[in-house]
Amino acid sequence: MKKLIIYSLVFFVIVGILLTGCGKKTEERNIKIGVILPLTGQLSTFGQSVRKGVELALEEVNREGGVLGKKVELIIEDDESKTDTAQTVVTKLLTKDRVPLIIGEVISSITLAVAPLCQRYKVPLITPSATNADVTRTGDYIFRTCFIDDFQGSALARFAIESLKAKRAGILKDVKSDYSIGLASAFAKTFKEMGGEVVNEQAYAAGDTDFRTQLTSIKASNPDIIFIPGYYNEVGLIIRQARELSIKANLLGGDGWDSPRVLEIAGASAEGTYYGTHFSPLEKSPQVQEFVSVFKQKYNEEPDALAALGYDTLKLVCSAIKRAGTTEGQKVRDELAQTKNFAGVTGEITIDENRNARKPLVILKIEKGKPTYFISIKP
Ligand code: PHE
Repeated sequence: MKKLIIYSLVFFVIVGILLTGCGKKTEERNIKIGVILPLTGQLSTFGQSVRKGVELALEEVNREGGVLGKKVELIIEDDESKTDTAQTVVTKLLTKDRVPLIIGEVISSITLAVAPLCQRYKVPLITPSATNADVTRTGDYIFRTCFIDDFQGSALARFAIESLKAKRAGILKDVKSDYSIGLASAFAKTFKEMGGEVVNEQAYAAGDTDFRTQLTSIKASNPDIIFIPGYYNEVGLIIRQARELSIKANLLGGDGWDSPRVLEIAGASAEGTYYGTHFSPLEKSPQVQEFVSVFKQKYNEEPDALAALGYDTLKLVCSAIKRAGTTEGQKVRDELAQTKNFAGVTGEITIDENRNARKPLVILKIEKGKPTYFISIKP
């Protein structure tokens, strides 16, 4: 009897060792992809949305058998919406985790700060959403799955002139944000080229809460539209203060408005404002409707542009690794660069020679307290 107990103990210990050993091996065989996002801090709704999209795509990829016979695993890092934290966590992903590829960052200024690191290590970085033109100019390992601000700003100016019949524009931009500066200048360029006049340009710095001085000055110039290329916290307050100052001009923004926080902060003042972004869950295509319904099932909410961009980006990356047949940096880079007509929920993605995507801008209008589809502008 004693012998039996000892034998079975030995047996179980051996089986245990074998099992954990195997477990470890499979884990090592997973393909690990780094993801860097603003999950907390000033711009956390952006990071949270991308994370939801990326994780939904991950589930689908692994359910369909993973990539190159392996499971895909994400190492998601929070940069607290800060440039220096982002540089620290990207360095960790590059040197300690040695990931073959990084998805992120969301914000242009932060992406611009980490892109040189990835370029130096020859690890592809692919941002779902940083639209500043300079991001991909960092080097040949830096990609994006969204349009750039030259297009976004120009399309918004065209929309202001053609659809809203604007002639006189005021601009209120965030001088601490590369995104805001670039988008303001692209807007102004096309607005003037199309015969409009920029009657007053004012500035603020991210974190400001009182915009009355700038808005009062803009109001005195009598614009029919005010372009506000900022992020949601300041934008929410700007919209509210503009209406409190009885400014009647149309208010227009870019993708930085795409957060539920704008409506929470601005309340009823946001009614009738417009902004451009990358996606609308109301789009009729079966692919979009399928995505929206699976997303709703998982998270009990509708996907916004960033969720959709995150979803597309992970799928596109997995498809590039599959085609490369390896996770080796240069080969994956080459396949990313070759991406053509990838059928994403944010539209067809073709990576051009500058490693950018050309996609339509979707204009949403706030109506009855909700962003509603207005029109799309093709590149
Ligand atoms: N385009 C913004 C930037 O470059 C980020 C963003 C994209 C925000 C999409 C919201 C939605 O900083």
